[in-house]
Amino acid sequence: MTTVLVTGGTGALGRQVVERLADSGAGVRVLSRRTDAPVPEGVGLVRGDLISGRGLDDALAGVEAVVHCASDPRRLEVEIDGTPRLLDAAKGVGSPHVIYVSIVGVDRIPFGYYQAKLAAETVLRDSGLPWTILRATQFHDLVLQGLAALARSPVVPLPRGIRAQPVDTRDVADRLATLALGGSAGRVPDVGGPRVERAEDLLRVYTEAAGLRRRVVSVPAPGRMMRAFRAGANLVEDGDLGTRTFEEFVREQVRPGKPVRLTYYRRPRR
Ligand SMILES: NC(=O)c1ccc[n+]([C@@H]2O[C@H](COP(=O)([O-])OP(=O)(O)OC[C@H]3O[C@@H](n4cnc5c(N)ncnc54)[C@H](OP(=O)(O)O)[C@@H]3O)[C@@H](O)[C@H]2O)c1
Repeated sequence: MTTVLVTGGTGALGRQVVERLADSGAGVRVLSRRTDAPVPEGVGLVRGDLISGRGLDDALAGVEAVVHCASDPRRLEVEIDGTPRLLDAAKGVGSPHVIYVSIVGVDRIPFGYYQAKLAAETVLRDSGLPWTILRATQFHDLVLQGLAALARSPVVPLPRGIRAQPVDTRDVADRLATLALGGSAGRVPDVGGPRVERAEDLLRVYTEAAGLRRRVVSVPAPGRMMRAFRAGANLVEDGDLGTRTFEEFVREQVRPGKPVRLTYYRRPRR
């Protein structure tokens, strides 16, 4: 039986990957900093931390593949130090196939977190381990939470000319689980959502579902980073498209009067 380690297996994406791998009959192990992290029955949990390196040898023992989803935009060292640490530990336990999830546009958008993701991609490519890299666009969850945070105010400023192609974590997880059970594939086609949408339209989808009336003010978006977004560097050009639209996701998640939980924006540091 193939055994796969999922770093970040407690996160929005990682949870879905874990579920799919477990359903496929693979042995699955999750690396988490928490001892009480909820994992599906039959899935192993190893306490560890990519920054300190604690627990990595135990987590990696006997695995054939690692799906590396752990990340923290507020702690770039998870990518910059944690990824090389994970890869070094992997070399010591039989050189498993490492599948890394990155973000569409990390090479074109000058933003610190994206630069850290690009550095992690490079370390993996140069590691000598079998590797696969999948870049995805923003997840529905992240976009919904960002819009819900903005829409707390009756007047919502939106940067002019920004489009997004949000993708469902279930669609990304389908690809990652398939990649984890196959061989090293290098950089595979990017994955994005089925539709490219203007920020105003995404906001309208949310406010309508939440029963809110908001005034939108279109504001200029200066700077190199926003220029790259306006140029569409965050969109999939020749990749794969997921199946679930943002509107479908919002209809599942949002009800009038029920606040959206802001897990990305209010997460406690550990
Ligand atoms: N969110 C998006 O829109 C988006 C879009 C494209 C690609 N991605 C990429 O997809 C991946 C998953 O994103 P996500 O949104 O699902 O993340 P998430 O929900 O924020 O989950 C982050 C995960 O990282 C783990 N983690 C954080 N710091 C760690 C550390 N020091 N050591 C070990 N584990 C650590 C957390 O585990 P514990 O808290 O249990 O320790 C958690 O499971 C990331 O690589 C991200 O860059 C995200």
